[in-house]
Amino acid sequence: MSQSNFRVAEFPVDPQFLNRWSPRAYTGADISEETVLSFIEAARWAPSSYNAQPWRFVFARRGTPHWDALLGLLNEFNRSWAQNASVLIIVLSKKTFLPPGAAAEVAAPTHSFDAGAAWAYLALQASLSGWHAHGMAGFDKELTRSVLGVPENYAIEAAVAVGKIGDKSILPEGLQAKEAPSPREALVKLAFEGKFKG
Ligand SMILES: Cc1cc2nc3c(=O)[nH]c(=O)nc-3n(C[C@H](O)[C@H](O)[C@H](O)COP(=O)(O)O)c2cc1C
Repeated sequence: MSQSNFRVAEFPVDPQFLNRWSPRAYTGADISEETVLSFIEAARWAPSSYNAQPWRFVFARRGTPHWDALLGLLNEFNRSWAQNASVLIIVLSKKTFLPPGAAAEVAAPTHSFDAGAAWAYLALQASLSGWHAHGMAGFDKELTRSVLGVPENYAIEAAVAVGKIGDKSILPEGLQAKEAPSPREALVKLAFEGKFKG
């Protein structure tokens, strides 16, 4: 059994998996481009089908000219807290790839799965480096496509806010109550040997 950050694992795992969580109270700290790229560096070492590496990342650091454009993609709820993040990242994935020896690109059935692995690596690296990453589905994907100039061949997967964790008192009361690492379903409900159990 492993325990960290008030979370308890049923089996031993490295503490990094329990320590990563998604806060909303951020300090608005400045972040360097090098630090952001170190998170994306971790992401690019994720595994992907055929090593196609379909993930792409568009980021804007607070205080830079692109910040307002990326913040404006988020829905009102996410904007309310993510405005204090240090960097916003949009995760994209390429929907086609060139199989070995093929003459033309074909559909990549795992582009989203692969990009999910990359985001997880990014979030873990941020956490290991003393930052926190918070994934978001609450943003306007069509607006994202036009504002960022994303070609149709790329899926818009998720937004991510990364920052330094701040005091939860800066959040509205309802969110303060939720500002803690969350629990997980019991392993017995998720892992089945041999045959699926509904
Ligand atoms: C793809 C994805 C989309 C999410 N969308 C939102 C969102 O729009 N707004 C939000 O506040 N949290 C969002 N979350 C955060 C989840 O609610 C959070 O990861 C989950 O409750 C588990 O908590 P933990 O990350 O602290 O372990 C999202 C997370 C992921 C991975």
